[in-house]
Amino acid sequence: MTGLLGRVSLRRLLCRLRTPVSSLLVRPSSGGPSWTWEQTLVAVKPDGVQRRLVGDVIRRFERRGFKLVGMKMLQAPESVLAEHYHDLRRKPFYPALISYMSSGPVVAMVWEGPNVVCTSRAMIGHTDSAEAAPGTIRGDFSFHITRNVIHASNSVEEAQREIRLWFQSNELVDWADEGYRSSLYPS
Ligand code: PPS
Repeated sequence: MTGLLGRVSLRRLLCRLRTPVSSLLVRPSSGGPSWTWEQTLVAVKPDGVQRRLVGDVIRRFERRGFKLVGMKMLQAPESVLAEHYHDLRRKPFYPALISYMSSGPVVAMVWEGPNVVCTSRAMIGHTDSAEAAPGTIRGDFSFHITRNVIHASNSVEEAQREIRLWFQSNELVDWADEGYRSSLYPS
């Protein structure tokens, strides 16, 4: 229990403290918390696709106000999955995780907006479905860690790495959103 709490707190801390590399740091002159304009990778996993949850995931991110700048459905190549989960390769569950992620198509997306990395982690909920709060995607749709419906990058650095892995730069669309975006900045 202590280990779990420690890990959760550490993740929260990392979300707050990690210095963004190329994201735009905004410090409002009127005071208030600073924030960064970020991109993150979100992937609906094979169980989420099978269960027709793609639309619900998109709806939640759009209603939150985030901007979709890339999306594709694909049968993830094993080379991409191996790279994506490289840090977990020695975990006992690694073979099962790769097999699950290869069991059907995934829908990979890039979402953009202020502090989207941390916010999307809050929206998807705890990795372990048993710990995921109701109202989060995993808390509403998943009952076991091995079928937890969705992935979202856990830091700005990881997001940049994962977006480069899953998307070519010409697959991301920088569409005009000036009215919405400028309303976030102090004039
Ligand atoms: S974190 O913070 O999301 O990276 O959490 P972590 O616990 O480190 O999990 C990393 C990914 O491994 C998956 N995972 C598992 N899969 C199958 N079985 C077990 N026991 C298991 N434990 C963790 C977890 O869903 C994370 O995958 P993603 O794609 O990042 O959600």
